[in-house]
Amino acid sequence: MSRPSDTNIANPQHVALAERIAARSARVGVIGLGYVGLPLAVEFARAGFTTVGIDVDSRKTDAVNQGTSYIPDVPTEEVARLVSTGRLSATTDAAVLASLDTVNICVPTPLRKTKDPDMSFIVSAVEKVAAHLHPGMLVILESTTYPGTTEELVQPMLEANGLRAGVDFFLAFSPERVDPGNPTYNTHNVPKVVGGVGPASTALASALYGAAIECTVPVSSPQAAEMVKLLENTFRMVNIALVNEIALMCDRLGIDVWEVVKAAATKPFGFMPFYPGPGLGGHCIPIDPFYLSWKAKQNGFDPRFIELAGQVNGAMPHFVVEKIAEALNRRQKSINGSTILVLGLAYKRDIDDIRESPSLDVMTLLHQKGARLRYADPHVPVLSARAWHGGFELRTEPLTADAIGAADCVAILTGHSTVDYDMVARSAALVVDTRNAIRGSHAHVLKLGAPSTMVPPAVTVPDREEAVA
Ligand SMILES: NC(=O)c1ccc[n+]([C@@H]2O[C@H](COP(=O)([O-])OP(=O)(O)OC[C@H]3O[C@@H](n4cnc5c(N)ncnc54)[C@H](O)[C@@H]3O)[C@@H](O)[C@H]2O)c1
Repeated sequence: MSRPSDTNIANPQHVALAERIAARSARVGVIGLGYVGLPLAVEFARAGFTTVGIDVDSRKTDAVNQGTSYIPDVPTEEVARLVSTGRLSATTDAAVLASLDTVNICVPTPLRKTKDPDMSFIVSAVEKVAAHLHPGMLVILESTTYPGTTEELVQPMLEANGLRAGVDFFLAFSPERVDPGNPTYNTHNVPKVVGGVGPASTALASALYGAAIECTVPVSSPQAAEMVKLLENTFRMVNIALVNEIALMCDRLGIDVWEVVKAAATKPFGFMPFYPGPGLGGHCIPIDPFYLSWKAKQNGFDPRFIELAGQVNGAMPHFVVEKIAEALNRRQKSINGSTILVLGLAYKRDIDDIRESPSLDVMTLLHQKGARLRYADPHVPVLSARAWHGGFELRTEPLTADAIGAADCVAILTGHSTVDYDMVARSAALVVDTRNAIRGSHAHVLKLGAPSTMVPPAVTVPDREEAVA
């Protein structure tokens, strides 16, 4: 890969775009208006840029143009205000790219069934940009991806018509670090790491983000920026796996993992608390490290931590199902035929995102074992048949004492903060709590990674004649 030298920083394309960014007269675009793209487009529009969102999904572009938000972290009033002032609009027509000065690509990066990267969304978005690329344009990839994507895949596609990255147009990678549902940190106040193809690309991308976001962190290359994101997500994945394994050990040893983590977290240095749970979920943590793993293997390196963490986290839904079976067994019941109410479908608290949610894995396993499944999640009104492997649609139960009490077992898989867990504990016949949502210990509550006060099953001793026979 070739990188332009520092001398290009004063080229006229760079100067012109820098001036337009400073004056907020640059026309900016965002491809992919999902959890990442819509908040980003809103930030650019709030900063004073005329911003166009581009998405293949006309329901999203229509919603934006009608001034409606479909992302919980983005208030509808804010979208409506920005649309009414003409700062924010959306379209499915990629031809608008010809009139834009900058574009951020925020499309999905899932894994294939083989755990190899699925680059088809990035390729499709970059093809659209390439068709309308013009001198002086700034292109920034935000989708999480393997190190090397920007320079090995995106740059050659954009340079195919003769324009050179870092000279005639500008290209950078900047990972999105948004944490949906986080009340403190959002797109605006999470520092933005930026690595460009050459210093002019880094400077322009930093200037664009600097106009809309509190802090930027330039790094030396797109590859370094790509790796930053993968380090962050691998760090989280591995630490969650570690605490999940500690929870399994605590479970075996009769120690309360929740008490242990809470006490360990009082250490003012050298420790950061992570919490166990039913497994990993979301579009990032269970997936992104395998992008790194794939790239490392391509280069003859065996990434052991990622594989091991994947195995530990991937086994957690099975452990939760064992816990549910154990709890029912203590009531002389089996999973087969029991009504099990899953509390929480979203992959983490207070959000509506069910992508890769371990709740769906637990539900599929329970369904395969003959459970009569129900669920309650205030953020997920419907679970469509194609969203999980059970193959049928379910609708949320109301969070009432009657609905809770009607189940043979309630499995708390997501700890949404709006749920009244005292009511759940009072109303349920039996609870398996994987999130430490229920305070204290109760004879009918089995907690993941904690000793139980639940009465063990009565052991039947055969009388003498039965034993001899
Ligand atoms: N969701 C998160 O919390 C989060 C956090 C950090 C990073 N990321 C990363 O950001 C990227 C986007 O994630 P997301 O959660 O916003 O995904 P998303 O599925 O919510 O949104 C992606 C959008 O891109 C659109 N799209 C797909 N292909 C397109 C194309 N060729 N042209 C135009 N639009 C297209 C889809 O219709 C969708 O609206 C991923 O790489 C993800 O790993 C996500």
